[in-house]
Amino acid sequence: MRRPMVAGNWKMHGSEAANSALLSELEMRLQPEWPIDVAVFPPFVYLAEVVRRLRGASVGVGAQDVCAEPGGAFTGEVAGSMLRDVGCTLVIVGHSERRRWYHEDDAVVARKFGAALAAGLTPVLCVGETLEEREAGMTETVIARQLDAVLAMNGVATLAEAIVAYEPVWAIGTGRNASPDQAEAVHAFVRRRIAEQNATIGGRVRILYGGSVKAANAAELFSMPDVDGGLVGGASLVADEFHQICAAAAASH
Ligand code: 13P
Repeated sequence: MRRPMVAGNWKMHGSEAANSALLSELEMRLQPEWPIDVAVFPPFVYLAEVVRRLRGASVGVGAQDVCAEPGGAFTGEVAGSMLRDVGCTLVIVGHSERRRWYHEDDAVVARKFGAALAAGLTPVLCVGETLEEREAGMTETVIARQLDAVLAMNGVATLAEAIVAYEPVWAIGTGRNASPDQAEAVHAFVRRRIAEQNATIGGRVRILYGGSVKAANAAELFSMPDVDGGLVGGASLVADEFHQICAAAAASH
């Protein structure tokens, strides 16, 4: 049985005061005995403080991005070793907003994935198709291309230490989530594709769904056999919503 996970991607939101208020509320509501992993992904500048704040709590902290290079003259970038240094254990790579607005291609994402692992971080690899790609019947082609780039560069064994997130671009921030059946079809496809190279790793890898996950739809999404939890954007900024999504993940176990 794969342990469910709920990851809150704060994106470019927050402030010291807002983060503190949100974490206080979460600490009051989240039940440490729930059989799930919970993590939050604040902007870089707040990571150290959020790690300090959550010390002793059963909530992991991850970054939203990492440089593909291990260090050096790359102004504005943050290395995986630095994220480890301040106490992060996870990092998102290949989020569709990075792919779209910062032109990160499959090769860069695959290098970031490798850089995360080299620094001792668990990569959360995001894959997902746009609406045009879905309507053109290209969903599996696109997901396979995104996944294969990482597998080819890093090897299937690295997926044993990673998490995959299926985030259809058309469902992100739109209020229009993929239906449980749509999500399940892609999750099963991702799992099969990995299992073709290594059945054990394919069976074990956690695949999170992201895209308009809310308290109201979490339970039905998480009830699908290959949906192992959620990567939550907007609803992760609202303590009560996030708490209810975590409760749904715990109940799906
Ligand atoms: P929303 O939950 O706001 O749709 O965002 C999903 C997402 O992109 C999480 O990484």
